[in-house]
Amino acid sequence: MTDAAIQRAASTPNPRPKAPWQVWRDASGRLSGLRIAVLVFLFVPVAIATYDFTLNLELIGARPLNNVIHRTGYWALIFLMASLAITPLRRIARFNRLADVRRMIGVGAFVYAASHILLFVADQMFDLWKVASAIVLRLYLTIGFVTLLGLAALAATSTDGMVRRLGGRRWQRLHSAIYAIGLLALVHFFQQTKADVSVPTFAAGLFAWMLGYRFLIKFRNARDEPPAWMLLALSVVIAALTFIVEAVGIGIVFNVSPLRVLQTALDFDDLAMIRPGWLVLGAGLIVLALDLVRARFGRRRPARATPA
Ligand code: HEM
Repeated sequence: MTDAAIQRAASTPNPRPKAPWQVWRDASGRLSGLRIAVLVFLFVPVAIATYDFTLNLELIGARPLNNVIHRTGYWALIFLMASLAITPLRRIARFNRLADVRRMIGVGAFVYAASHILLFVADQMFDLWKVASAIVLRLYLTIGFVTLLGLAALAATSTDGMVRRLGGRRWQRLHSAIYAIGLLALVHFFQQTKADVSVPTFAAGLFAWMLGYRFLIKFRNARDEPPAWMLLALSVVIAALTFIVEAVGIGIVFNVSPLRVLQTALDFDDLAMIRPGWLVLGAGLIVLALDLVRARFGRRRPARATPA
C-alpha cells in the first residue's frame, strides 16, 4: 500500500463496498483488470502443475510429493520477490495503481509457503514429532520455519481492519520486515540447493538490486525518481557483486580459484550457462529502459513516498 492508502485505511471507517473475498474488485468495489491479471498470475503454478501431473509425467519423477514441495517453495519465493518488486516498478513505471495488488501477491506468497510446509508434513507421514525435530535439528528447515512465521504475521495483519487497529506507522514498521523475510527465504533456498546455485544467485542479485533501490530513494532528499544514471550505476554495481559473490562462493565450495570462475563468465557458448550476473545486469537494463521511456513519454508526476 502507498502511504496515502495506509493513512486512509488507518483513519477512515471501513466503507465495506465489497465482500473481503471479492479480491477481483478494487477498494471502490469496481471490477479491476489489474487485480484479475494478478489473480491469474497467482494460479499459474497450479495450472503448470496440473498440466505436468496429467500430461508431462516424466517431469515429475519418482517422488511426486517431493516434486510439489519444491514447486510450492519455488513459487512462494517468486511471489515474495514479486511483492518486493512492486514499489520499484510502480515508481519507475509511474504506475501507482500497482500498489493496489501488492497485498494480494504477498498473501499469495504466504499461501504457497503454507502449502509448502503442509506438503512437507504430509511427506513425513503427518508425524508431527518428526517434523518438529527436523525443524529444530536442521538449520535450513529452522530458517524456513522462521520465514514462514514472518510471512504468516504479515498476511494476518494485511487487512484494512488490522491497519486501523495497529495505526499506519506501526503497521508500516511491521511490514518493512518483508526485506528480512526475503533474505531468510533466500538463505533457505541456497542451503537446500545441492549443486547448481545459479537460480538462487540470480534471485539474490535481484533482491540486492531492490534493496539498493530502496536505499537510493530513502537517502536521497528528492521525491522524484532517481535519475537514469543512478539506476544504471546501481545495476552495474549489483551485477558486478553478483559475479564476485558467485565466484567466491563456488571457489570456496569446490576449492577452485574464484578468478578462474570469473573467467568462465565470459563464456557465451552455451546459452543455458549464462552466469546470473549477466541476467541481473539484463534485468537492471530493462528497468532502466522502462524508466527512460516513461520519463520521455509518461506524465512526469513526483512518485509518492513509499513504505516497504
Ligand atoms: C517450516 C517451513 C519450511 C519447511 C519445513 C521447508 C522445507 C523444504 C524442503 C524439505 C525443501 C526441499 C529440500 C530438498 O528436497 O532437499 C524446500 C525447498 C525450498 N523451500 Fe522450503 N521449507 C519451509 C519454508 C519455506 C518458505 C517460507 C519458503 C519461501 C518463502 C521456502 C522456499 C523454498 C524454496 C525456494 C525451495 C527450493 C525449491 C526448488 O527446488 O526450486 N521454504 N523447503
